[in-house]
Amino acid sequence: MQGAILGVGLSTSVSLILLVLLIIVATLVTVVIKNKQNISSSVSPTSPSSSSPNSGGGSKKTQMFASNIVLYAFLNSTATDANATTLKGQIQRLKSKRPGVKVLISIGGGAAGSWSNNLNPTAIKNFINSCGADGFNEDFEANTCWNSGSDCGTKHLSILKRLRAVMPVGKYIASSAMWLNGVATGNAQASLQSGLLDYVMVMSYDTKLVTINYEGAMKEYAKYIDSTKLFVGVEAPVEGWGSHRTTIEECKSVARLAKKLDLAGVFIWHFTKADSSPTAPEMSAAIIA
Ligand SMILES: *[C@@H]1O[C@H](CO)[C@@H](O)[C@H](O)[C@H]1NC(C)=O
Ligand SMILES: *[C@@H]1O[C@H](CO)[C@@H](O)[C@H](O)[C@H]1NC(C)=O
Repeated sequence: MQGAILGVGLSTSVSLILLVLLIIVATLVTVVIKNKQNISSSVSPTSPSSSSPNSGGGSKKTQMFASNIVLYAFLNSTATDANATTLKGQIQRLKSKRPGVKVLISIGGGAAGSWSNNLNPTAIKNFINSCGADGFNEDFEANTCWNSGSDCGTKHLSILKRLRAVMPVGKYIASSAMWLNGVATGNAQASLQSGLLDYVMVMSYDTKLVTINYEGAMKEYAKYIDSTKLFVGVEAPVEGWGSHRTTIEECKSVARLAKKLDLAGVFIWHFTKADSSPTAPEMSAAIIA
């Protein structure tokens, strides 16, 4: 597990304060999200361990702490490829620096293929409890998920139900990273309408398109789930697929879109990318400003 995704919360009600002071504002945004979702943290911060929440320098940490939600990626679907004890120290340190930050463990990922038949919900729950995270992010990206008329949507919902059976709504936070064309293909609707998701991270990157229609995609998603549960995604360059390259101007424009559509915020994939220009911390700063 190495990458981290950041969810940066934006709220029109605190947008003026956003310009004043980063850390205080971030705390306020966290409170706004918490009130809306009525989520209680299952973990109280303890003394920081010696491990760092990320491998980067000071500014990277500052920006990381400004986010409301941090996703660690990836844990595999049997929870057997990472060490919860090691991660626990990182999460404790993150939470001691940023009380109120929510930590989710991202299951699956783009390289994991289809894992709906190889899922161990109890092992995942035990891992999450052991490392002190607040919940999970379902990242199911079987190669049929971008196609219409596939069984991806059925599989996605089935995974979500099985995870929610052991990690119930209100006790654990659940999000899902979903495909840019998820509504157009029909693969996203069932899970969006299930009532089982606190947040949806729309992966509006890694497409063959040079220009990404963020607004069109987010409006499609908002037809099936409350807009305040939706995060619009940007990827730190270079993207894994296609030639689109996120700029700082584009980050600002996506942040304005998040406010205009009353979304939960913007998320960045991913924080620990070394080859990126702009870097994820630079993108994060532009989004918060
Ligand atoms: C998870 O990772 C472990 C250790 O690498 C491996 O043995 C197992 O097959 C993986 N499970 C899945 C579902 O990928
Ligand atoms: C996890 O890491 C800790 C030390 O960080 C070690 O003591 C423990 O044996 C590891 N667990 C597994 C299952 O490898």
